[in-house]
Amino acid sequence: LSRQDLSGQTVLVTAGPTREPIDPARFLSNRSSGKMGFALARAAWRRGAKVILVAGPGSLPTPGNIERINVQTALEMHEAVMQYAEKSTIIIKAAAVADYRAKEVASQKIKKEAIGTSLELEKNPDILLELGRKKRDGQVLVGFAAESSRLIEEGTRKLQAKNLDLIAVNNISSESTGFEVDTNQVLLISREKSENLPFASKEKTADLILDQVVQLVAKETIS
Ligand code: PMT
Repeated sequence: LSRQDLSGQTVLVTAGPTREPIDPARFLSNRSSGKMGFALARAAWRRGAKVILVAGPGSLPTPGNIERINVQTALEMHEAVMQYAEKSTIIIKAAAVADYRAKEVASQKIKKEAIGTSLELEKNPDILLELGRKKRDGQVLVGFAAESSRLIEEGTRKLQAKNLDLIAVNNISSESTGFEVDTNQVLLISREKSENLPFASKEKTADLILDQVVQLVAKETIS
């Protein structure tokens, strides 16, 4: 039996990409498979938490006894997250949310000849930024970042800008870390320290991230 150091906690995890439709056949999305987020959800569940998983499109099976809400778009993810955020004590945003959506979604498939070379876009809400603004006392907010350079600088900037307690910066410039693969290497930055986690499976990485989350929860409880 694994340690039950998250028992009593309600953990909200987001995972996977979002998919922004252009017409009934086409969409904008990214390479996220959901593996990192699902590994976090499973690890939190094993460690005794009640887990809510908001998942973008993908075919990964639901790990453990977890409440799963499937979403497609960033707007749907925003709505689901805001619905569950209030009652969550820990929120981990591993999803790769599309920053933009098509301004107009065509109800019929756009003919090849009519597509042209430009697509008008509209900004999606930054879900994590909003969670940071609404963060209540005692709540622990964890973000992710996918970066290919300046990991410390970008991670620290996002930690501060989004009012996070912890950020896991993925190095996506290597084939064996970041999107799609089963392994990862993460730079973990909190308000107090930064730490390079070892190259490891996403399962192991999830547990190492949760080790830090447990410490942050303990600190929130004391202060
Ligand atoms: O899913 P896998 O294939 O296992 O790959 C894992 C991963 C690389 C997708 C994942 O670990 C990861 O890095 N996720 C975050 C990717 C990302 O969107 O980074 P970002 O720097 O664009 O966003 C920073 C943070 O803001 C993220 O926590 C993101 O969820 C959040 N965000 C971003 C935009 C937006 N509109 N709303 C958000 O909440």
